[in-house]
Amino acid sequence: MNNCFILKGTICHTPSLGRLEIHENAYTVCMDGICEGIFDEVPPEFRGLRMIDCTGDLVIPGMTDLHIHAPQYSYIGTGMDYELLEWLDNRTFPAENCYRDTKYAEAAYAVFAEKMKNSATTRAVIFGTIHRESTLILMDLMEKSGLVTLVGKVNMDRNAPSYLLEPDAESAAEDTRRFLCEVQERRYVRTKPIITPRFVISCSDALMEELGTIAAEKKLPVQSHLSENPDEIEFVKQLSPESRFYGDAYDRCGLFGRQSPCVMAHCVHSTEEEAQRIRDNGVYIAHCPASNMNLASGIAPIRKYLDMGIHVGLGTDVGAGHTVSVFRTVTEAIQVSKLYKRLVDPGAKALTFAESFYLATKGGGSFFGRVGSFEKGCEFDAVVLDDSRELLCGSEDSESRLERAFYLGIDRTGIIRKFAAGIETELYNE
Ligand code: GUN
Ligand code: FE
Repeated sequence: MNNCFILKGTICHTPSLGRLEIHENAYTVCMDGICEGIFDEVPPEFRGLRMIDCTGDLVIPGMTDLHIHAPQYSYIGTGMDYELLEWLDNRTFPAENCYRDTKYAEAAYAVFAEKMKNSATTRAVIFGTIHRESTLILMDLMEKSGLVTLVGKVNMDRNAPSYLLEPDAESAAEDTRRFLCEVQERRYVRTKPIITPRFVISCSDALMEELGTIAAEKKLPVQSHLSENPDEIEFVKQLSPESRFYGDAYDRCGLFGRQSPCVMAHCVHSTEEEAQRIRDNGVYIAHCPASNMNLASGIAPIRKYLDMGIHVGLGTDVGAGHTVSVFRTVTEAIQVSKLYKRLVDPGAKALTFAESFYLATKGGGSFFGRVGSFEKGCEFDAVVLDDSRELLCGSEDSESRLERAFYLGIDRTGIIRKFAAGIETELYNE
């Protein structure tokens, strides 16, 4: 496989939070999937490599979607008048029940995978459903999509309709172990499993303890939801009175970053103590502004989390979020941070474009290792954007072009090439 090449273009990345670098007519080099850095001239040792000449186009790191539900793509953009718990009961659980049927899963997940393939996303952390076979179908499709993903078979054994519950903690854990064996047998290169308790409301202590044991034993990452909605948080208090705060219920079971990497979606209403535990345990927060608006969950205090040194990335949270576009998420994260400043805390500086761009690239990408910029040693994830149809006078500076590409949603029509871990994705082009 030839994944050694040079890519030429207007190369944009953020090596640190808010530090946007733009290299005009520059070169980046991919050697066996790893980036060699950014250069003004091709260094002698790389001369002779295949040149992909995208002069004039914007070259950016691929987007990382740190939180998305594949089965929920089927009802995206509907049911948006509910809050979280009613939305789960009325929309999500009935929709996820369809995935007990593998034929349905094949068709629905094929649509999802195609969408992801043609998006600017190169990395994603994905929820499936409780159904083992359907989740394997999803993983087969993601493996073919070109993205690098972590995919979870969901676990839940309480507080949902019986049709969507695993019978008890032991059988749920057994099914998860079987799932992990089957994943291993498939020898995926770009698709790995992630332990996925849906949230505390739908997982008994016994189930969460089983999952904590599996995560530690197999050194697997963990994903779940945290402090998204006030009614949810109140319910967790009743279910887990011994926990100091919501996240403590995960932590007591080994599901909160101490033993293996962990990403929690939302954290809209985390207490000070919870935020400190998130930081101390190195837990990642997946900030999902579209979802938080749609389900009226609130505005997560992302500036505060960043100031505390917490790892933050962005998530679309489809289907509570209404698009797979991380470009949209970048602009929404900025917008909600402005509302937060105006309406909640005048001291909380709004996110800048460069900061939100960082969250979508290196911020979330680092959950996968060295991912999300063109620094030497990073895995080579890149998206090339042709924004020529949006250039009005031809004299726009590159920083303005980049910002506009996000606000205008150029990822819908303007992606001309995409690479994840050095491998090019064959895009659908109109
Ligand atoms: N909390 C538990 N399940 C879900 C889900 O599917 N979506 C969101 N946004 N929050 C959840
Ligand atoms: Fe979610």
